[in-house]
Amino acid sequence: MPDLCILDHEAVLEAVSPVAAIAATRAGFLHHHRDEWTMPAKVYLDSSPHGDFRAMPALGDGFALLKWVTSFPGNPARGLPTVTGVVCLSDATTGVPLALLDASAITTLRTGAVAAVATRALAREGASGVGLVGCGPNGASAARCMAAVGYGPGICCDPRTEVAEALAAELGWSVGGRSEALACDIVCCVTPGAQIVVDVDDLHAGQHLNMLGADGSGKAEASLEAVLACELYCDQWEQAAHGGELAGAVEAGLVTRDRVTALGAVLAGDAPGRSSADAITMFDSTGLAIQDLAVSAVALRAARAGLVTAGTLHL
Ligand SMILES: NC(=O)c1ccc[n+]([C@@H]2O[C@H](COP(=O)([O-])OP(=O)(O)OC[C@H]3O[C@@H](n4cnc5c(N)ncnc54)[C@H](O)[C@@H]3O)[C@@H](O)[C@H]2O)c1
Repeated sequence: MPDLCILDHEAVLEAVSPVAAIAATRAGFLHHHRDEWTMPAKVYLDSSPHGDFRAMPALGDGFALLKWVTSFPGNPARGLPTVTGVVCLSDATTGVPLALLDASAITTLRTGAVAAVATRALAREGASGVGLVGCGPNGASAARCMAAVGYGPGICCDPRTEVAEALAAELGWSVGGRSEALACDIVCCVTPGAQIVVDVDDLHAGQHLNMLGADGSGKAEASLEAVLACELYCDQWEQAAHGGELAGAVEAGLVTRDRVTALGAVLAGDAPGRSSADAITMFDSTGLAIQDLAVSAVALRAARAGLVTAGTLHL
């Protein structure tokens, strides 16, 4: 058995730039849309009242991936990250495990990356200002990815002013309140999803919203009225309908599958994007294992090429 390659948090971030994560994530969506990559449904393991675990498998590009990852909203108060876990990347031909990677770094990269991919596909021509609501690790990554492909400057909004200030200083953006952030052309919401941060009165013509925080059952960042006022897109209907921003509207019978377009179909040119410059588009990200696979493969190849220092483990 070959040694396992170990990539810790810093090594993953060193191996995969935001621009590389965006390109890989876009390609992953296209492969999955064309049925070249497979992805069984994510399994949630509830650990109420603390949080939940998710087992996320995917296969493609010669690899099989399993991400064992969490969302524990009370963790920041304990000095721990909300999202922790490990990614195992195996050889799809032999089944042999090849690498273990820090799941939080892979997750932040691919979550930020999909915000940039969706914005490029769905925002109106000329949209640039970014309102970021929620500046934790995944919000910060969304901001970094948006900035990496030329969006911004933006407004960082978070009740933890120190994290908003640090991110704004890093990117040359500003700190602002919720209404300033929501006045931007492009909005990224990356809060824990415990309370509504976007209502229908916050929306304006031509806006694009990336809803990233509500990635599990019972979470929502937009009111039902706000969801219903938008042209709707998602990463994957099955996940989004049950454990994402759209779940409330789907459960209430107000949104059906024919009203929601998959991002992969838009990227492939098989479905239209926004209908007009004045339309309001909302992308619901629930997080897909194909995104993790795309970014993890980039990280492993960088390690194999000696571009980053990796550890090894003999099983
Ligand atoms: N869609 C996906 O693929 C995906 C991937 C990873 C994480 N997530 C989800 O994204 C959310 C954020 O993840 P994280 O790791 O950054 O979490 P985190 O808890 O570390 O950060 C959340 C941030 O939001 C801020 N916040 C809370 N309420 C707010 C409000 N009303 N207005 C503005 N800011 C507010 C908090 O102060 C905190 O800084 C979680 O719900 C997580 O489960 C989704």
